[in-house]
Amino acid sequence: MTMKQRLIPAAALAAVLFAGAAWAEEPIKPIEPVKEINLAKAELGKKLFFDPRLSKSGFISCNSCHNLSMGGSDNLKTSIGHNWQKGPINAPTVLNSSLNFVQFWDGRAETLKAQAGGPIANPGEMAFTHEMAEGVVQSIPGYVTEFRLVFGDDKIDIERITAAIAEFEKTLVTPNSRFDKWLLGDANALTAQELAGYKLFKESGCVSCHYGASVGGGTFHKMGMVEEYKSTSPAEGRKAVTGKDEDRLMFKVPNLRNVELTYPYFHDGEAETLTEAVDIMGRLQLGKKLTEEQNAQIVAFLKSLTGEQPTFTLPILPPSSDKTPQPKPFED
Ligand code: HEC
Ligand code: HEC
Repeated sequence: MTMKQRLIPAAALAAVLFAGAAWAEEPIKPIEPVKEINLAKAELGKKLFFDPRLSKSGFISCNSCHNLSMGGSDNLKTSIGHNWQKGPINAPTVLNSSLNFVQFWDGRAETLKAQAGGPIANPGEMAFTHEMAEGVVQSIPGYVTEFRLVFGDDKIDIERITAAIAEFEKTLVTPNSRFDKWLLGDANALTAQELAGYKLFKESGCVSCHYGASVGGGTFHKMGMVEEYKSTSPAEGRKAVTGKDEDRLMFKVPNLRNVELTYPYFHDGEAETLTEAVDIMGRLQLGKKLTEEQNAQIVAFLKSLTGEQPTFTLPILPPSSDKTPQPKPFED
C-alpha cells in the first residue's frame, strides 16, 4: 500500500469530523488522527526507537524510559540511566509530544528531531556519543539497506537517525478518547461526574494553562503561582536555559492527555496520584482548596482524556554484524 492510499481515508474522515464542529467553542480540541507521515521513515524510526544498541550498554532504548506499553513513560519518579544512575527529572510521555510547542520540561529543544539527539549522548541516560551511534548503525547491514531506501543514498548520520525517530514520534498521537468523542458530538460519551469535572476544570481556571488539543504543552508557567512549591529537586526549569532568576521553576505546562497512565506527576515525580496532583494544582496555581467531591470530579474528567494508544507490530531489529562494536554495559 502506498502512503497516499493509506492517507486519503483518514484525512477525508477527519475533514468530515472537524467541519462544523461541536467543540468550536471549547478550550480543549480533539486530537486529530495522524496525517502527513512518511511511512517508510516512520517505520525506520520505530526500529531505532526500540533499538538499545544506540546506548553504550546496548541495553537502554528510547522505549526503556518512554515505554509505549505504559503510556510512553516509565512510571518512575525519575528515570534510571546508564549504570543505574538516578535521573534528575521525571520522564514526560512521548505520546502526543509532536503537539508540544517545545520539548523538555524547560523547553531547551525546539523540535522532536533536536530532542532525540539529547538522550543518546547524555552520560546519565544512554551514555553514548553521536559518532558511536552512527558507527553502530553503519555496521548493521539491515539498517544500511533501510536508510538507503528511505533517504536515497548511503549516508547514515545523527541527523538522519534523529529525523527518522522524530517521524515515528509523530505517529504517537492518541485520538478517540471518550472526551474527544463527547467534543465531537456524542453526548453519551461522558458520565455526569466527568462532565461536572470538565465544568470545574474550566470554571476554576485550570484551562488558562491546560488548553488546546493536548490540554497543555503550549506555554511555560511557574510551578507555584499562588503558593510556593517546595521540592528537593535541583531542577530549575526555564532558568537553566535563560539564566534569568525570574524563570526559576517555570516549566512547560505538561500535556494532560493520557495523564491517567503517566504517574507519578510533576517534574520531580513527587505527586504519586492524580488526586494529589489535582489538589496541589488547585492550591498552588489557583489558591483554591478543592473539596473531595470536586477533586474526584476533576480526576474523573482527566481519566476521560485517555485516548487510543498507538498499536503496532513489535519491530524486529536487524542483527548486528561481526563489525558492530560490542556493548559496554558495566563501564562508566
Ligand atoms: C534514561 C531514560 C531516558 C531515555 C533512554 C530516553 N529518554 Fe526521553 N526523556 C527522559 C527524561 C527524564 C526526559 C525529561 C528531561 C528534561 O525535560 O530535562 C525526557 C524527555 C523526552 C522528550 C520530551 C517530551 C516533552 O514533553 O518535553 C521526548 C520527545 C523524548 N524524551 C524522547 C526520547 C527519545 C526519542 C529517546 C531515544 C533516542 C529518549 N527519549 C530516550 C528520559 C529518557
Ligand atoms: C498557571 C498555570 C497552571 C494552572 C492554572 C494549572 N496548572 Fe496544572 N500544571 C502547570 C504546570 C507548570 C505544571 C508542571 C508543574 C511541575 O511539574 O512542577 C502542571 C502540572 C499538572 C499536572 C501534572 C501533569 C504531569 O504529567 O506531571 C496535572 C495533573 C495538572 N497540572 C492538573 C491541573 C488542574 C486539575 C488544574 C486546575 C485545578 C491545573 N492543573 C491548573 C500549570 C498550571
